[in-house]
Amino acid sequence: MTDCQADGEGARSPMELYEKLNAQGEKVRSLKTAKAEKAEIDAAVQLLLKLKVDYKQMTGNDYKAGCPPSENVVMSDNGLAADGADDEDTVDPWNVATSNAKGVDYDKLIVRFGSSKIDQELVDRIEKVSGQKPHRFLRRGIFFSHRDMHQVLDAYEKNKSFYLYTGRGPSSEAMHVGHLIPFIFTKWLQDVFDIPLVIQLTDDEKYLWKDLTLEECHRFAVENAKDIIACGFDVNKTFIFSDLDYMGSSPEFYRNVVKVQKHVTFNQVKGIFGFTDSDCIGKISFPAIQAAPSFSNSFPQIFGGKKDIQCLIPCAIDQDPYFRMTRDVAPRIGYPKPALLHSTFFPALQGAQTKMSASDANSSIFLTDTPKQIKNKVNKHAFSGGKDTVEEHRKYGGNADVDVSFMYLTFFLEDDEQLEKIKQDYTSGALLTGELKKILIETLQPMIAQHQERRKQVTDEMVQQFMTPRPLNFHF
Ligand code: TRP
Repeated sequence: MTDCQADGEGARSPMELYEKLNAQGEKVRSLKTAKAEKAEIDAAVQLLLKLKVDYKQMTGNDYKAGCPPSENVVMSDNGLAADGADDEDTVDPWNVATSNAKGVDYDKLIVRFGSSKIDQELVDRIEKVSGQKPHRFLRRGIFFSHRDMHQVLDAYEKNKSFYLYTGRGPSSEAMHVGHLIPFIFTKWLQDVFDIPLVIQLTDDEKYLWKDLTLEECHRFAVENAKDIIACGFDVNKTFIFSDLDYMGSSPEFYRNVVKVQKHVTFNQVKGIFGFTDSDCIGKISFPAIQAAPSFSNSFPQIFGGKKDIQCLIPCAIDQDPYFRMTRDVAPRIGYPKPALLHSTFFPALQGAQTKMSASDANSSIFLTDTPKQIKNKVNKHAFSGGKDTVEEHRKYGGNADVDVSFMYLTFFLEDDEQLEKIKQDYTSGALLTGELKKILIETLQPMIAQHQERRKQVTDEMVQQFMTPRPLNFHF
Protein backbone atom coordinates (compact mmCIF):
# COMPACT_ATOMS: atom_id res chain seq x y z
CA MET A 1 0.00 0.00 0.00
CA THR A 2 2.88 2.41 0.67
CA ASP A 3 3.82 1.86 -2.91
CA CYS A 4 0.50 2.94 -4.16
CA GLN A 5 0.29 6.00 -1.97
CA ALA A 6 3.68 7.16 -3.16
CA ASP A 7 2.50 6.62 -6.69
CA GLY A 8 -0.65 8.70 -6.56
CA GLU A 9 0.80 11.51 -4.52
CA GLY A 10 3.99 11.50 -6.55
CA ALA A 11 2.22 12.81 -9.63
CA ARG A 12 2.66 16.55 -9.88
CA SER A 13 0.19 17.44 -12.60
CA PRO A 14 -3.20 16.15 -13.74
CA MET A 15 -1.54 15.10 -16.99
CA GLU A 16 1.09 13.08 -15.19
CA LEU A 17 -1.54 11.38 -13.07
CA TYR A 18 -3.68 10.78 -16.15
CA GLU A 19 -0.77 9.02 -17.81
CA LYS A 20 -0.12 6.93 -14.73
CA LEU A 21 -3.78 5.93 -14.82
CA ASN A 22 -3.56 4.93 -18.47
CA ALA A 23 -0.52 2.81 -17.74
CA GLN A 24 -2.12 1.22 -14.70
CA GLY A 25 -5.32 0.44 -16.67
CA GLU A 26 -3.13 -1.21 -19.28
CA LYS A 27 -1.38 -3.23 -16.59
CA VAL A 28 -4.70 -4.47 -15.15
CA ARG A 29 -5.87 -5.49 -18.59
CA SER A 30 -2.71 -7.40 -19.38
CA LEU A 31 -2.71 -9.16 -15.99
CA LYS A 32 -6.27 -10.24 -16.65
CA THR A 33 -5.49 -11.42 -20.16
CA ALA A 34 -2.52 -13.32 -18.84
CA LYS A 35 -4.81 -14.83 -16.15
CA ALA A 36 -2.39 -13.73 -13.43
CA GLU A 37 -2.85 -14.66 -9.75
CA LYS A 38 -5.99 -13.17 -8.24
CA ALA A 39 -3.98 -11.41 -5.52
CA GLU A 40 -1.81 -9.73 -8.10
CA ILE A 41 -4.79 -8.55 -10.13
CA ASP A 42 -6.54 -7.32 -6.98
CA ALA A 43 -3.48 -5.32 -5.96
CA ALA A 44 -3.27 -3.73 -9.40
CA VAL A 45 -7.00 -2.90 -9.35
CA GLN A 46 -6.62 -1.42 -5.87
CA LEU A 47 -3.86 0.85 -7.07
CA LEU A 48 -5.93 1.85 -10.09
CA LEU A 49 -8.85 2.82 -7.86
CA LYS A 50 -6.57 4.76 -5.57
CA LEU A 51 -5.19 6.68 -8.55
CA LYS A 52 -8.73 7.42 -9.69
CA VAL A 53 -9.59 8.91 -6.32
CA ASP A 54 -6.40 11.01 -6.42
CA TYR A 55 -7.29 12.12 -9.92
CA LYS A 56 -10.77 13.16 -8.89
CA GLN A 57 -9.34 15.06 -5.94
CA MET A 58 -6.78 16.82 -8.11
CA THR A 59 -9.00 17.72 -11.07
CA GLY A 60 -12.52 17.59 -9.67
CA ASN A 61 -13.38 15.22 -12.52
CA ASP A 62 -13.58 11.52 -13.05
CA TYR A 63 -10.77 9.85 -14.89
CA LYS A 64 -11.87 8.69 -18.31
CA ALA A 65 -9.59 6.76 -20.63
CA GLY A 66 -9.17 8.62 -23.91
CA CYS A 67 -10.13 11.93 -22.27
CA PRO A 68 -7.04 13.82 -21.12
CA PRO A 69 -7.55 16.26 -18.22
CA SER A 70 -8.31 19.47 -20.10
CA GLU A 71 -11.08 17.90 -22.19
CA ASN A 72 -12.59 16.17 -19.24
CA VAL A 73 -14.75 19.01 -17.99
CA VAL A 74 -17.60 18.67 -20.46
CA MET A 75 -19.59 15.88 -18.85
CA SER A 76 -18.21 16.32 -15.37
CA ASP A 77 -21.18 14.69 -13.71
CA ASN A 78 -21.10 11.61 -15.86
CA GLY A 79 -18.82 9.49 -13.77
CA LEU A 80 -19.33 6.35 -15.80
CA ALA A 81 -15.88 4.95 -16.44
CA ALA A 82 -15.99 4.39 -20.15
CA ASP A 83 -13.05 2.04 -20.00
CA GLY A 84 -14.76 -0.36 -17.59
CA ALA A 85 -11.90 -2.77 -18.11
CA ASP A 86 -10.65 -2.50 -14.55
CA ASP A 87 -13.79 -3.61 -12.77
CA GLU A 88 -15.26 -7.05 -12.72
CA ASP A 89 -18.73 -5.91 -11.66
CA THR A 90 -21.24 -5.03 -14.34
CA VAL A 91 -23.88 -2.57 -13.19
CA ASP A 92 -26.14 -0.74 -15.61
CA PRO A 93 -29.92 -0.40 -15.95
CA TRP A 94 -30.12 -3.81 -17.66
CA ASN A 95 -27.40 -5.98 -16.15
CA VAL A 96 -26.02 -6.70 -12.72
CA ALA A 97 -23.30 -9.29 -12.44
CA THR A 98 -20.22 -9.96 -10.35
CA SER A 99 -17.98 -12.93 -9.76
CA ASN A 100 -17.90 -12.27 -6.00
CA ALA A 101 -20.24 -14.35 -3.80
CA LYS A 102 -20.56 -11.44 -1.34
CA GLY A 103 -22.11 -9.45 -4.16
CA VAL A 104 -21.15 -6.30 -6.00
CA ASP A 105 -18.32 -4.26 -4.45
CA TYR A 106 -20.34 -1.18 -3.60
CA ASP A 107 -17.41 0.91 -2.38
CA LYS A 108 -15.80 0.54 -5.78
CA LEU A 109 -19.08 1.53 -7.42
CA ILE A 110 -19.12 4.77 -5.44
CA VAL A 111 -15.68 5.61 -6.81
CA ARG A 112 -16.63 4.57 -10.32
CA PHE A 113 -19.93 6.44 -10.39
CA GLY A 114 -18.51 9.45 -8.53
CA SER A 115 -21.28 9.45 -5.91
CA SER A 116 -20.80 9.77 -2.13
CA LYS A 117 -21.01 7.16 0.59
CA ILE A 118 -23.87 7.33 3.07
CA ASP A 119 -21.66 7.38 6.15
CA GLN A 120 -22.62 7.37 9.81
CA GLU A 121 -22.50 11.15 9.88
CA LEU A 122 -25.19 11.39 7.21
CA VAL A 123 -27.33 8.73 8.90
CA ASP A 124 -27.07 10.69 12.16
CA ARG A 125 -28.03 13.87 10.36
CA ILE A 126 -31.09 12.28 8.79
CA GLU A 127 -32.07 11.15 12.28
CA LYS A 128 -31.59 14.62 13.70
CA VAL A 129 -33.43 16.47 10.93
CA SER A 130 -36.34 14.02 10.68
CA GLY A 131 -36.56 13.38 14.40
CA GLN A 132 -37.02 9.65 13.70
CA LYS A 133 -34.90 6.58 14.21
CA PRO A 134 -33.21 5.91 10.86
CA HIS A 135 -34.85 3.18 8.78
CA ARG A 136 -33.11 -0.21 8.96
CA PHE A 137 -32.09 0.24 5.31
CA LEU A 138 -30.03 3.23 6.42
CA ARG A 139 -28.74 1.63 9.61
CA ARG A 140 -27.53 -1.39 7.62
CA GLY A 141 -26.07 0.30 4.57
CA ILE A 142 -28.74 -1.01 2.19
CA PHE A 143 -29.13 2.57 1.01
CA PHE A 144 -25.40 3.15 0.78
CA SER A 145 -24.69 5.97 -1.65
CA HIS A 146 -26.06 9.44 -2.37
CA ARG A 147 -25.74 12.62 -4.35
CA ASP A 148 -26.38 15.98 -2.66
CA MET A 149 -28.32 14.63 0.33
CA HIS A 150 -26.60 17.12 2.64
CA GLN A 151 -27.90 19.96 0.47
CA VAL A 152 -31.43 18.59 0.72
CA LEU A 153 -31.16 18.48 4.51
CA ASP A 154 -29.60 21.97 4.73
CA ALA A 155 -32.55 23.37 2.81
CA TYR A 156 -35.12 21.34 4.77
CA GLU A 157 -33.69 22.73 8.01
CA LYS A 158 -34.34 26.19 6.61
CA ASN A 159 -37.95 25.21 5.92
CA LYS A 160 -37.36 24.63 2.22
CA SER A 161 -39.14 21.40 1.46
CA PHE A 162 -38.58 18.91 -1.33
CA TYR A 163 -40.46 16.15 -3.14
CA LEU A 164 -39.75 12.49 -3.79
CA TYR A 165 -39.62 10.76 -7.16
CA THR A 166 -39.23 7.04 -7.75
CA GLY A 167 -40.49 4.55 -10.30
CA ARG A 168 -40.85 1.10 -11.71
CA GLY A 169 -40.63 -0.50 -15.12
CA PRO A 170 -43.74 -2.71 -15.33
CA SER A 171 -42.35 -5.68 -17.24
CA SER A 172 -44.73 -8.25 -15.81
CA GLU A 173 -47.63 -8.71 -13.48
CA ALA A 174 -45.47 -10.53 -10.97
CA MET A 175 -43.49 -8.43 -8.55
CA HIS A 176 -41.01 -9.92 -6.11
CA VAL A 177 -39.83 -8.78 -2.70
CA GLY A 178 -36.75 -7.10 -4.21
CA HIS A 179 -39.01 -4.71 -6.12
CA LEU A 180 -40.45 -3.46 -2.85
CA ILE A 181 -37.15 -2.17 -1.44
CA PRO A 182 -37.27 1.33 -2.99
CA PHE A 183 -40.98 1.61 -2.23
CA ILE A 184 -40.68 0.57 1.42
CA PHE A 185 -37.93 3.14 1.87
CA THR A 186 -39.74 5.86 -0.08
CA LYS A 187 -42.83 5.36 2.05
CA TRP A 188 -40.68 5.87 5.16
CA LEU A 189 -39.19 9.07 3.70
CA GLN A 190 -42.64 10.34 2.81
CA ASP A 191 -43.82 9.73 6.36
CA VAL A 192 -40.88 11.20 8.25
CA PHE A 193 -40.44 14.28 6.05
CA ASP A 194 -44.14 14.69 5.23
CA ILE A 195 -43.63 15.43 1.55
CA PRO A 196 -45.28 14.72 -1.81
CA LEU A 197 -44.24 11.81 -3.98
CA VAL A 198 -44.50 11.05 -7.69
CA ILE A 199 -44.13 7.48 -8.96
CA GLN A 200 -43.38 6.91 -12.63
CA LEU A 201 -44.48 3.64 -14.22
CA THR A 202 -42.44 3.34 -17.40
CA ASP A 203 -44.78 1.19 -19.47
CA ASP A 204 -43.36 2.95 -22.54
CA GLU A 205 -39.84 1.81 -21.57
CA LYS A 206 -40.89 -1.80 -21.23
CA TYR A 207 -42.67 -1.68 -24.59
CA LEU A 208 -39.47 -0.41 -26.20
CA TRP A 209 -37.19 -2.93 -24.52
CA LYS A 210 -39.25 -6.10 -24.28
CA ASP A 211 -41.29 -8.25 -26.57
CA LEU A 212 -44.61 -6.99 -25.21
CA THR A 213 -47.56 -5.10 -26.65
CA LEU A 214 -48.49 -1.59 -25.53
CA GLU A 215 -51.67 -2.96 -24.01
CA GLU A 216 -49.77 -5.53 -21.96
CA CYS A 217 -47.31 -2.95 -20.64
CA HIS A 218 -50.10 -0.60 -19.69
CA ARG A 219 -52.00 -3.38 -17.96
CA PHE A 220 -48.87 -4.37 -16.00
CA ALA A 221 -48.48 -0.72 -14.95
CA VAL A 222 -51.95 -0.70 -13.43
CA GLU A 223 -51.45 -4.12 -11.80
CA ASN A 224 -48.08 -3.05 -10.34
CA ALA A 225 -49.67 0.16 -9.08
CA LYS A 226 -51.83 -2.04 -6.82
CA ASP A 227 -48.76 -3.63 -5.23
CA ILE A 228 -47.18 -0.21 -4.83
CA ILE A 229 -50.29 1.23 -3.22
CA ALA A 230 -50.33 -1.78 -0.87
CA CYS A 231 -47.03 -0.48 0.58
CA GLY A 232 -49.16 2.09 2.36
CA PHE A 233 -48.68 5.36 0.48
CA ASP A 234 -50.86 8.29 1.44
CA VAL A 235 -53.25 9.04 -1.43
CA ASN A 236 -53.28 12.71 -0.46
CA LYS A 237 -49.55 12.98 -0.99
CA THR A 238 -48.88 10.53 -3.83
CA PHE A 239 -49.31 10.69 -7.60
CA ILE A 240 -48.70 7.47 -9.54
CA PHE A 241 -48.61 7.75 -13.33
CA SER A 242 -48.23 5.57 -16.39
CA ASP A 243 -46.06 7.28 -19.01
CA LEU A 244 -48.42 6.09 -21.73
CA ASP A 245 -51.28 7.99 -20.07
CA TYR A 246 -49.61 11.00 -18.51
CA MET A 247 -47.21 11.99 -21.32
CA GLY A 248 -50.08 12.63 -23.70
CA SER A 249 -52.14 14.55 -21.18
CA SER A 250 -49.53 16.90 -19.77
CA PRO A 251 -48.05 19.60 -22.01
CA GLU A 252 -45.73 20.64 -19.18
CA PHE A 253 -44.30 17.15 -18.82
CA TYR A 254 -43.75 16.82 -22.54
CA ARG A 255 -42.04 20.20 -22.73
CA ASN A 256 -39.48 19.04 -20.21
CA VAL A 257 -38.93 15.83 -22.16
CA VAL A 258 -38.19 17.89 -25.27
CA LYS A 259 -35.89 20.23 -23.37
CA VAL A 260 -33.84 17.32 -22.14
CA GLN A 261 -33.82 15.77 -25.61
CA LYS A 262 -32.36 18.95 -27.05
CA HIS A 263 -29.49 18.99 -24.57
CA VAL A 264 -28.22 15.43 -24.80
CA THR A 265 -26.43 14.15 -27.88
CA PHE A 266 -26.54 10.64 -29.35
CA ASN A 267 -22.86 10.41 -28.54
CA GLN A 268 -23.55 11.08 -24.88
CA VAL A 269 -26.29 8.48 -24.51
CA LYS A 270 -24.10 5.99 -26.32
CA GLY A 271 -21.41 6.68 -23.72
CA ILE A 272 -23.80 6.52 -20.78
CA PHE A 273 -26.11 3.66 -21.77
CA GLY A 274 -24.14 1.78 -24.38
CA PHE A 275 -26.73 2.28 -27.13
CA THR A 276 -25.60 1.27 -30.59
CA ASP A 277 -26.55 2.29 -34.11
CA SER A 278 -29.02 -0.57 -34.33
CA ASP A 279 -31.04 0.36 -31.23
CA CYS A 280 -34.44 1.78 -32.10
CA ILE A 281 -34.81 5.55 -31.77
CA GLY A 282 -37.39 5.05 -29.00
CA LYS A 283 -34.70 3.67 -26.72
CA ILE A 284 -32.28 6.42 -27.60
CA SER A 285 -34.69 9.16 -26.58
CA PHE A 286 -36.26 7.33 -23.63
CA PRO A 287 -33.79 8.61 -20.98
CA ALA A 288 -35.33 12.07 -21.40
CA ILE A 289 -38.67 10.63 -20.26
CA GLN A 290 -37.16 9.18 -17.10
CA ALA A 291 -35.42 12.52 -16.49
CA ALA A 292 -38.53 14.73 -16.75
CA PRO A 293 -40.17 13.85 -13.38
CA SER A 294 -37.02 15.23 -11.66
CA PHE A 295 -38.29 18.73 -12.47
CA SER A 296 -41.16 20.04 -10.41
CA ASN A 297 -42.88 21.94 -13.24
CA SER A 298 -43.57 18.59 -14.95
CA PHE A 299 -46.43 18.38 -12.43
CA PRO A 300 -48.27 21.72 -12.48
CA GLN A 301 -51.27 20.20 -10.72
CA ILE A 302 -49.03 19.47 -7.72
CA PHE A 303 -46.49 22.29 -7.70
CA GLY A 304 -48.33 25.07 -9.54
CA GLY A 305 -45.87 26.38 -12.09
CA LYS A 306 -42.94 26.20 -9.68
CA LYS A 307 -39.81 24.95 -11.36
CA ASP A 308 -37.34 25.10 -8.52
CA ILE A 309 -38.61 22.60 -5.98
CA GLN A 310 -35.84 20.20 -5.05
CA CYS A 311 -36.36 16.58 -6.06
CA LEU A 312 -34.96 13.58 -4.16
CA ILE A 313 -34.85 10.22 -5.94
CA PRO A 314 -34.56 6.97 -3.96
CA CYS A 315 -33.60 4.20 -6.40
CA ALA A 316 -31.41 1.14 -6.87
CA ILE A 317 -27.88 2.07 -7.97
CA ASP A 318 -28.45 0.62 -11.47
CA GLN A 319 -30.73 3.58 -12.26
CA ASP A 320 -27.94 6.07 -11.62
CA PRO A 321 -26.93 6.46 -15.29
CA TYR A 322 -30.32 8.05 -16.01
CA PHE A 323 -29.84 10.55 -13.26
CA ARG A 324 -26.21 11.33 -13.98
CA MET A 325 -27.52 12.43 -17.35
CA THR A 326 -30.37 14.35 -15.72
CA ARG A 327 -28.05 16.13 -13.31
CA ASP A 328 -25.75 17.09 -16.15
CA VAL A 329 -28.61 18.64 -18.13
CA ALA A 330 -30.53 20.29 -15.26
CA PRO A 331 -28.49 23.49 -14.80
CA ARG A 332 -28.33 24.00 -18.55
CA ILE A 333 -32.12 24.14 -18.78
CA GLY A 334 -32.54 26.21 -15.63
CA TYR A 335 -33.53 23.56 -13.09
CA PRO A 336 -32.02 22.29 -9.84
CA LYS A 337 -30.21 18.96 -10.02
CA PRO A 338 -32.16 16.11 -8.42
CA ALA A 339 -30.54 14.59 -5.33
CA LEU A 340 -30.28 10.80 -5.03
CA LEU A 341 -30.25 7.98 -2.54
CA HIS A 342 -28.97 4.69 -3.96
CA SER A 343 -29.70 1.19 -2.72
CA THR A 344 -27.75 -2.02 -3.17
CA PHE A 345 -29.41 -4.86 -5.07
CA PHE A 346 -31.62 -7.47 -3.61
CA PRO A 347 -29.78 -10.72 -4.20
CA ALA A 348 -31.25 -13.69 -6.06
CA LEU A 349 -31.94 -16.77 -3.94
CA GLN A 350 -29.09 -18.51 -5.73
CA GLY A 351 -26.54 -15.96 -4.55
CA ALA A 352 -25.48 -12.34 -4.54
CA GLN A 353 -23.70 -12.56 -7.90
CA THR A 354 -26.81 -11.17 -9.51
CA LYS A 355 -30.07 -9.48 -8.61
CA MET A 356 -33.43 -11.17 -8.56
CA SER A 357 -35.12 -11.67 -11.86
CA ALA A 358 -38.87 -11.56 -12.37
CA SER A 359 -38.53 -14.00 -15.25
CA ASP A 360 -37.03 -16.82 -13.17
CA ALA A 361 -39.63 -18.09 -10.69
CA ASN A 362 -37.05 -19.85 -8.54
CA SER A 363 -34.73 -16.86 -8.21
CA SER A 364 -37.24 -14.83 -6.27
CA ILE A 365 -39.89 -14.70 -3.60
CA PHE A 366 -42.94 -13.31 -5.34
CA LEU A 367 -45.55 -11.14 -3.70
CA THR A 368 -48.10 -13.77 -4.74
CA ASP A 369 -46.26 -16.76 -3.21
CA THR A 370 -48.10 -18.93 -0.70
CA PRO A 371 -46.55 -19.73 2.69
CA LYS A 372 -45.72 -23.17 1.35
CA GLN A 373 -44.03 -21.83 -1.76
CA ILE A 374 -41.97 -19.46 0.38
CA LYS A 375 -40.88 -22.32 2.60
CA ASN A 376 -39.94 -24.54 -0.32
CA LYS A 377 -38.07 -21.86 -2.20
CA VAL A 378 -36.01 -20.82 0.80
CA ASN A 379 -35.23 -24.39 1.81
CA LYS A 380 -34.45 -25.54 -1.70
CA HIS A 381 -32.88 -22.56 -3.42
CA ALA A 382 -31.47 -20.06 -0.90
CA PHE A 383 -27.69 -20.22 -1.27
CA SER A 384 -26.15 -21.25 2.02
CA GLY A 385 -22.91 -20.16 3.63
CA GLY A 386 -23.13 -23.15 5.95
CA LYS A 387 -20.85 -26.18 6.00
CA ASP A 388 -21.67 -29.47 4.31
CA THR A 389 -22.22 -31.51 7.46
CA VAL A 390 -23.59 -30.62 10.88
CA GLU A 391 -20.28 -31.69 12.47
CA GLU A 392 -18.24 -29.40 10.27
CA HIS A 393 -20.71 -26.57 10.73
CA ARG A 394 -20.56 -26.88 14.51
CA LYS A 395 -16.78 -26.96 14.34
CA TYR A 396 -16.03 -24.20 11.81
CA GLY A 397 -19.23 -22.16 11.74
CA GLY A 398 -21.03 -20.68 8.72
CA ASN A 399 -20.22 -17.70 6.52
CA ALA A 400 -22.99 -15.11 6.88
CA ASP A 401 -21.39 -12.82 4.29
CA VAL A 402 -22.32 -15.13 1.41
CA ASP A 403 -25.44 -16.65 2.94
CA VAL A 404 -28.55 -15.49 1.11
CA SER A 405 -30.94 -16.28 3.96
CA PHE A 406 -28.89 -14.08 6.25
CA MET A 407 -28.75 -11.33 3.61
CA TYR A 408 -32.54 -11.39 3.31
CA LEU A 409 -32.85 -11.06 7.07
CA THR A 410 -30.71 -7.91 6.95
CA PHE A 411 -33.37 -6.49 4.63
CA PHE A 412 -36.43 -7.55 6.55
CA LEU A 413 -35.73 -8.31 10.21
CA GLU A 414 -36.33 -5.10 12.12
CA ASP A 415 -34.58 -5.94 15.41
CA ASP A 416 -30.87 -5.02 15.28
CA GLU A 417 -29.91 -7.04 18.33
CA GLN A 418 -31.67 -10.16 17.14
CA LEU A 419 -29.96 -9.83 13.76
CA GLU A 420 -26.56 -9.44 15.39
CA LYS A 421 -27.15 -12.47 17.58
CA ILE A 422 -28.15 -14.56 14.55
CA LYS A 423 -24.95 -13.51 12.81
CA GLN A 424 -22.80 -14.43 15.78
CA ASP A 425 -24.51 -17.76 16.32
CA TYR A 426 -24.30 -18.64 12.66
CA THR A 427 -20.65 -17.69 12.46
CA SER A 428 -19.78 -19.66 15.57
CA GLY A 429 -21.69 -22.71 14.38
CA ALA A 430 -24.27 -22.62 17.17
CA LEU A 431 -26.98 -21.88 14.60
CA LEU A 432 -27.44 -24.36 11.76
CA THR A 433 -28.42 -23.50 8.18
CA GLY A 434 -31.83 -25.14 8.59
CA GLU A 435 -32.47 -23.06 11.69
CA LEU A 436 -31.39 -19.87 9.95
CA LYS A 437 -33.69 -20.66 7.03
CA LYS A 438 -36.54 -21.28 9.44
CA ILE A 439 -36.11 -17.79 10.90
CA LEU A 440 -36.18 -16.32 7.41
CA ILE A 441 -39.26 -18.32 6.41
CA GLU A 442 -41.06 -17.18 9.53
CA THR A 443 -40.12 -13.57 8.77
CA LEU A 444 -41.21 -13.69 5.14
CA GLN A 445 -44.46 -15.62 5.49
CA PRO A 446 -46.36 -13.06 7.59
CA MET A 447 -44.80 -10.18 5.69
CA ILE A 448 -46.01 -11.51 2.33
CA ALA A 449 -49.39 -12.53 3.74
CA GLN A 450 -49.91 -9.01 5.09
CA HIS A 451 -48.94 -7.56 1.74
CA GLN A 452 -51.47 -9.81 0.00
CA GLU A 453 -54.13 -8.75 2.48
CA ARG A 454 -53.44 -5.05 1.89
CA ARG A 455 -53.38 -5.57 -1.88
CA LYS A 456 -56.79 -7.19 -1.74
CA GLN A 457 -58.12 -4.00 -0.15
CA VAL A 458 -56.89 -1.93 -3.10
CA THR A 459 -59.91 -1.29 -5.31
CA ASP A 460 -59.99 -0.09 -8.92
CA GLU A 461 -61.36 3.21 -7.67
CA MET A 462 -58.36 3.65 -5.39
CA VAL A 463 -55.98 2.97 -8.28
CA GLN A 464 -57.94 5.48 -10.34
CA GLN A 465 -57.61 8.03 -7.56
CA PHE A 466 -53.84 7.59 -7.15
CA MET A 467 -53.39 7.82 -10.92
CA THR A 468 -55.46 10.95 -11.50
CA PRO A 469 -53.46 14.17 -11.93
CA ARG A 470 -54.69 16.38 -9.08
CA PRO A 471 -53.45 18.75 -6.40
CA LEU A 472 -51.84 17.00 -3.45
CA ASN A 473 -52.22 17.90 0.16
CA PHE A 474 -49.21 20.13 0.33
CA HIS A 475 -48.30 23.80 0.03
CA PHE A 476 -44.86 24.95 -0.94
N1 TRP B 1 -36.36 2.47 -15.31
C1 TRP B 1 -36.89 1.99 -14.07
C2 TRP B 1 -37.07 0.47 -14.16
O1 TRP B 1 -36.94 -0.12 -15.19
C3 TRP B 1 -38.19 2.64 -13.70
C4 TRP B 1 -38.04 4.05 -13.21
C5 TRP B 1 -38.52 5.18 -13.83
C6 TRP B 1 -37.43 4.48 -12.00
N2 TRP B 1 -38.23 6.28 -13.08
C7 TRP B 1 -37.57 5.89 -11.96
C8 TRP B 1 -36.79 3.81 -10.95
C9 TRP B 1 -37.07 6.63 -10.88
C10 TRP B 1 -36.29 4.56 -9.89
C11 TRP B 1 -36.44 5.97 -9.86
O2 TRP B 1 -37.37 -0.14 -13.17
